[in-house]
Amino acid sequence: MKAIVILGSTGSIGTNTLDIVERFPAEFRVVGLTAGSNDDMLEEQIRRFKPRVVALSNESAAARLRDRCPDLPVEILAGQDGLVRVASAPEAELVVSAIVGGAGLVPTLAAIRSGKHIALANKEPMVMAGKLMQDEARRHGVRIFPVDSEHSAIFQSLEGHRVRDVRRLILTASGGALWTLTKEQLQDVTPERALQHPNWKMGAKITIDSATLMNKGLEVVEARWLFDIPESRIDVMIHRESIIHSLVEYEDRSMIAQLGLPDMRTPISYAMRYPERLPLDLPSLDLTEVGKLTFCKPDHDRFPCLRLGYESLRIGGTMPAAMNAANEIAVEAFLQGGIRFGDISDIIRSTMDAHAPREVESVDVALEADHWARSKAESLVHALAR
Ligand SMILES: NC(=O)c1ccc[n+]([C@@H]2O[C@H](COP(=O)([O-])OP(=O)(O)OC[C@H]3O[C@@H](n4cnc5c(N)ncnc54)[C@H](OP(=O)(O)O)[C@@H]3O)[C@@H](O)[C@H]2O)c1
Repeated sequence: MKAIVILGSTGSIGTNTLDIVERFPAEFRVVGLTAGSNDDMLEEQIRRFKPRVVALSNESAAARLRDRCPDLPVEILAGQDGLVRVASAPEAELVVSAIVGGAGLVPTLAAIRSGKHIALANKEPMVMAGKLMQDEARRHGVRIFPVDSEHSAIFQSLEGHRVRDVRRLILTASGGALWTLTKEQLQDVTPERALQHPNWKMGAKITIDSATLMNKGLEVVEARWLFDIPESRIDVMIHRESIIHSLVEYEDRSMIAQLGLPDMRTPISYAMRYPERLPLDLPSLDLTEVGKLTFCKPDHDRFPCLRLGYESLRIGGTMPAAMNAANEIAVEAFLQGGIRFGDISDIIRSTMDAHAPREVESVDVALEADHWARSKAESLVHALAR
């Protein structure tokens, strides 16, 4: 039985992970859970999964939980130190990293440094400090299994093949909720409209990232570090149906892809139980019912964020961290109704233009760039605020 910790257990990936734990009680034992501020849901999860230790990053939420549940036989920690302690719980073998945003960097790195294998959904830390995370993983004998459906597809399509035979990686993108809109229409879409993803049910931040194509920009950076392939050999193609989750082209021009209905439980369970495949009781993909699959090139004019992802990698150093931080601030401002959809890419672009990148020699350097870019992006949001 594998002892696991879930960072971000109250989110979309976190609850899907617990669904797998519930379906396979003989396979997994939950020793630790963390959330941001949702103490209500965390309490339910504690009662159902009986972890030894939990943490909430929000101190007041942790205090509320302690006050309300003196009967719970669980250690309740708070703040970033609490998250780090759960991430490095001595009995854990695998940490599912599913916090949203850069807030996951320090706890995920702590898990790596304490020798836990990682099922990585939280892509932003890889964007902020991918090389550092991979170096630390190697140093500590840790494997990082991708959870993102595209990276899981590439991971599966690489199995049994030599990386030196790879010609390019091709990430597929659904195009998100707004793919069919004109540039003018995109300017003024509401958060409600942008949150209507056609294929996937996910947290709010990644759903907006899908609509701007920033999600694909972040995924290009993630793929660069997960698979050690330069950005010049990573392509993106729009595939509206989200059936082909990504592809690898080899030197002999053959392509290997992974297909399936869009359900995150497939890549999550593969990362959790690699190399075994758990018998998930989910609907099968019937290609005769799907009938046809469509593909087209990304539109960089209407969706400039994808290009920013490539550019951040070409510039290197702390530039991806600055881009990621600016995106987090801009997406939050858009969700709060403070800026327009079209402002998101402008804020990221202006933040990147103003950033002086440095080598990411340590996590502190990445965090410094993150803080700098957040405050720069906040001032840009302020200037635009409606
Ligand atoms: N959802 C998907 O299908 C999907 C697919 C591929 C990759 N991913 C990636 O997986 C990650 C999680 O996505 P999601 O959609 O599951 O997000 P989500 O539904 O918004 O959940 C985020 C989780 O992180 C916690 N959290 C938020 N802010 C935090 C903070 N400052 N400190 C500690 N914990 C915090 C939340 O706790 P509270 O509930 O208390 O706020 C929640 O448990 C993202 O990096 C995303 O890009 C997601």
